[in-house]
Amino acid sequence: MGVGRTISRDAGRTGFWSALVVLGAAIALHAQAPVTVKDKVFTKEQAARGEKLFARSCAKCHLFSGPITKDGPPLGGDVFLTKWDGKSVYELAFGIKLGMPPDGSVVLDDEQTSDVVAFMLKSNGFTEGEKALKTDSTARGLIFVKGK
Ligand code: HEC
Repeated sequence: MGVGRTISRDAGRTGFWSALVVLGAAIALHAQAPVTVKDKVFTKEQAARGEKLFARSCAKCHLFSGPITKDGPPLGGDVFLTKWDGKSVYELAFGIKLGMPPDGSVVLDDEQTSDVVAFMLKSNGFTEGEKALKTDSTARGLIFVKGK
């Protein structure tokens, strides 16, 4: 067991993240006045719920700063924000929902995915506001990640 399965699963996942980049670029072309993660796109309540979810399902592999560990890359800091700059929140959320955690031991629903993304944004220094981050892909596709 093991080796063959692990390799094919990894290959599938790599293709999966890069396909999303193309999709995001197509959406970006159509955006008129882009809303970014700096525009208070999530609520305090979402981030608080997301924090609990993150602690339970993500924190054993991800921190928000520091180097890439054997378990997973940091979800904050310059490298992360540069990598995601200009991509949509939809891409980020979609990758998390379908790909994280990698072993599929936890499957987040749309609402939980928004909560986790809200917590990730908050942890990266973005401000919460009155409007909740939506769960539909069109709305998420029109919000862009922006480095600080
Ligand atoms: C068992 C370890 C593990 C767990 C648990 C885990 N991840 Fe990951 N995560 C990884 C690895 C390894 C990668 C890098 C490979 C990849 O992209 O598939 C990654 C990549 C990511 C990325 C892309 C990072 C980048 O630099 O672009 C995001 C976002 C992410 N994870 C979010 C989450 C969230 C949110 C959770 C909890 C719901 C979670 N992960 C749970 C191991 C994990």
